[in-house]
Amino acid sequence: MLDKVRDLQQQIEQYTITSPEQLEQFRMRFISRKGVITELFEQLKLVPPTDRRAVGQELNALKNAAQTRFEQFSQLVDEQQTVAGNAPPLDLTLPTLPNLTGTQHPLSLVRQRIIQIFERIGFNVADGPEIESDWYNFGALNFPDNHPARDMQDTFFIEKAADGGTDMLLRTHTSNVQIRLMERQSPPIRSIMPGRVYRNETISARAHCLFHQVEGIYIDRNVGFKDLKDTLYHFVKELFEPGTQIRFRPSYFPFTEPSAEIDISCQICGGKGCNICKYSGWVEIAGSGMVDPQVIANCGIDPEEYTGFAFGMGIERITQLKYVVNDLRLYTENDVRFLRQFEGL
Ligand code: PHE
Repeated sequence: MLDKVRDLQQQIEQYTITSPEQLEQFRMRFISRKGVITELFEQLKLVPPTDRRAVGQELNALKNAAQTRFEQFSQLVDEQQTVAGNAPPLDLTLPTLPNLTGTQHPLSLVRQRIIQIFERIGFNVADGPEIESDWYNFGALNFPDNHPARDMQDTFFIEKAADGGTDMLLRTHTSNVQIRLMERQSPPIRSIMPGRVYRNETISARAHCLFHQVEGIYIDRNVGFKDLKDTLYHFVKELFEPGTQIRFRPSYFPFTEPSAEIDISCQICGGKGCNICKYSGWVEIAGSGMVDPQVIANCGIDPEEYTGFAFGMGIERITQLKYVVNDLRLYTENDVRFLRQFEGL
């Protein structure tokens, strides 16, 4: 028995390995539960009791030696593999993974561009509440109670007034900010007011219950319709493709007189006719007009001394024309495949 142990000891000392397969062979022969050392341990009971202790010690030493040797060999094989490139590939020459950054929302891009254009011609930016009273959204803007003009805008009412009070609602346009500005500030007033507005519409590709507007107002002495036209011509020239045509079409709003809607030649088909412009070659982008003297008076400004114009447009509509987005729902669904298309703009 002792001879056997010594023989194995020698074998282990002399063993060399150069591959993972040989490492496995070593493990099977000396370490595994079916290996020679385990077998010797089983034979220990056959050794006469007087020798058993000594042989047992030798066997234990053999077992430890095999284990140590196995660990040395494993390390060696690991190192060899790394050097040979068999380990998981680590290619330091590969380009780094791109660092994905967020993109600006298309509506933010267009809003900023609109603000930039108007700021350069002397308009500042004003803000106001989205939860508004009936007076600021309708009353002050010449929408008489129960007047059909209120049906032009389907309203979310959120609180019915107690007797004598005023209803609360979600603003249907940003014109409420015009009223609040005129109340607070004396002319000259030259501001635009971007913001979110709400209308009680069923959500579809062409309508949404929330969208964004930019309205503008200019009140001063001697402001005329020519100023309105000049300002909006300039705006269209700056924002849209060169050669875009613009036309003013008579219209009606309770708070402006005269009123006009502004059409531009369709950006999609260049005026030839397509489904976006309903084959007319023109698309409407804004409402506008001279502020009704009554509205100016409602805000405590003398309409004999001051006149002004106002306009309002939908940011979604303009974004649709600039970037050919045909479904309004895309703006609010946060689909990164849609949003990533605006990377770097
Ligand atoms: N407030 C109008 C709307 O939301 C737009 C508008 C603003 C029209 C200013 C004329 C003047 O439809």
